[in-house]
Amino acid sequence: PTPQSLAGKKIIVTAGGTRERIDPVRYLTNDSSGKMGVAVATAAQQAGAEVTLIAGSMKVTPPTGINVISVTSTNDMYEAVNEQFASADGLVMAAAVSDFRPATSADHKIKKDKDHPGMTLELVENPDIVATMGAKKRADQFLVGFAAETNDLKQNAQKKLTAKHLDLMVANDVSQSQIGFNSDDNQVTFMWPDGRQQQTPIESKAKVAEEIVDIIATDILKEK
Ligand code: PMT
Repeated sequence: PTPQSLAGKKIIVTAGGTRERIDPVRYLTNDSSGKMGVAVATAAQQAGAEVTLIAGSMKVTPPTGINVISVTSTNDMYEAVNEQFASADGLVMAAAVSDFRPATSADHKIKKDKDHPGMTLELVENPDIVATMGAKKRADQFLVGFAAETNDLKQNAQKKLTAKHLDLMVANDVSQSQIGFNSDDNQVTFMWPDGRQQQTPIESKAKVAEEIVDIIATDILKEK
């Protein structure tokens, strides 16, 4: 990206996976490494933005010079994003967020019960972070979301683009191990609300992140 294309802009980026506690020693999570979100935060910082990274559980270390807020659960991430959003120009939701959490989190380690083999875990729905910001965003604010899909990539991503009021959807097929979760590379389809679509080749997450920053600077913010 052009060095100062996001100068003066405050951008929130989320990265990594959320953890939903079952009991003191167990949780539900996903395979997100944080690589994609950290790449976006780095590219936005290089373009001159003031970046706040809201980080779930990650295998990578964020770059220096970025304000990092560490969170654990989807509810924690929701609260952090909600607190930062009003003063931000935009949000890029690269984090892999759990749609559900256990209805209760046990105080003590859950034990096996030999009289009742098997167990049922009751889940309740988590808040949809980006959709909530989408419902209340000002005309001068933008939202970029990702869609992690294993099937019907474009149809599913299109539904999320519309339902969550995004300015850009970055759709990735996470059924292939060389792209998606934990890989260094990705291949995405950019989808705009006006129906435009553009697919990238398989390329580094750093390159995908630079393209996202270019779209924010030259396309999305020009319209705001
Ligand atoms: O971290 P890496 O290992 O580099 O992997 C990158 C990635 C695969 C995690 C990333 O590229 C990606 O696809 N992130 C989005 C994962 C996800 O939660 O996708 P989704 O299709 O379930 O959700 C759609 C969008 O809504 C996402 O922007 C998500 O952050 C957001 N969401 C989802 C659920 C929820 N309760 N709140 C949300 O804000």
